Amino acid sequence: MIFWLKKFLKKEDLTAVTEFFRDAGVFSLLEEKIIPDLIISKQSKKQRFIRVWSAGCAAGEESYSIAMIFAEVLGNKLDDFFISIYGTDIDRESLIVAKTGEYDIKKIKNVPEKYIKKYFIRSNNDKLVISLKIRNLCKFKFLDLFKDKPLLKNDVVLCRNVVIYFTREQRDKLFDKIYSSLNSNGYFIVGKSEVLTGGIFKKFKVVDSKERVYSKIPV
Ligand SMILES: C[S@@+](CC[C@H](N)C(=O)[O-])C[C@H]1O[C@@H](n2cnc3c(N)ncnc32)[C@H](O)[C@@H]1O
Repeated sequence: MIFWLKKFLKKEDLTAVTEFFRDAGVFSLLEEKIIPDLIISKQSKKQRFIRVWSAGCAAGEESYSIAMIFAEVLGNKLDDFFISIYGTDIDRESLIVAKTGEYDIKKIKNVPEKYIKKYFIRSNNDKLVISLKIRNLCKFKFLDLFKDKPLLKNDVVLCRNVVIYFTREQRDKLFDKIYSSLNSNGYFIVGKSEVLTGGIFKKFKVVDSKERVYSKIPV
């Protein structure tokens, strides 16, 4: 079934379909709850590291959307925190675009106007480039979610619209890896059509069932 589905869908249907601020509700929750809570929890720490992992980041739209929200929420306190948003993917072409941070104007249709003014610069070829301030919060690298070790010590992991073609066994194995990659009470966000089931579900607390946001129950 999966084989036939893959055979008839175009590459872009299978892989790199994404957009800035995809599923607005998730980004509202990040802005109103998740990021403010993280900031409070790190406030008293000597070194205020916040790590976010966008697993299956495509061309970086998700990572940059999150970075813009951090910049908005923190304002002139942005430099008081060490924020790292790691985007990983197996699609090397997408990673090149992510690292360049340059997008066609039609790609930014979901970006609020105020963010376009603040965080994008028009480039010579009439595209828009993410500002350095936002780019500095993001790093991108190749990582195969099947084979490679997960990034560690994350406060938030987003793995959205990635496991749709994985078998249940592959998905559960990956979600288990993600569980171990999270700090205690760290957030895990999956796609709107994805759910945590069985043994994996028991390891997380539901933060928002509609937006598919969970938090790690520490052992
Ligand atoms: C549909 S995009 C989702 C992008 C973004 N997370 C979103 O929700 O908009 C799926 C991404 O997962 C990546 N992907 C698929 N299998 C992967 C694997 N085994 N390891 C890493 N990335 C993978 C694809 O290359 C693609 O960029």
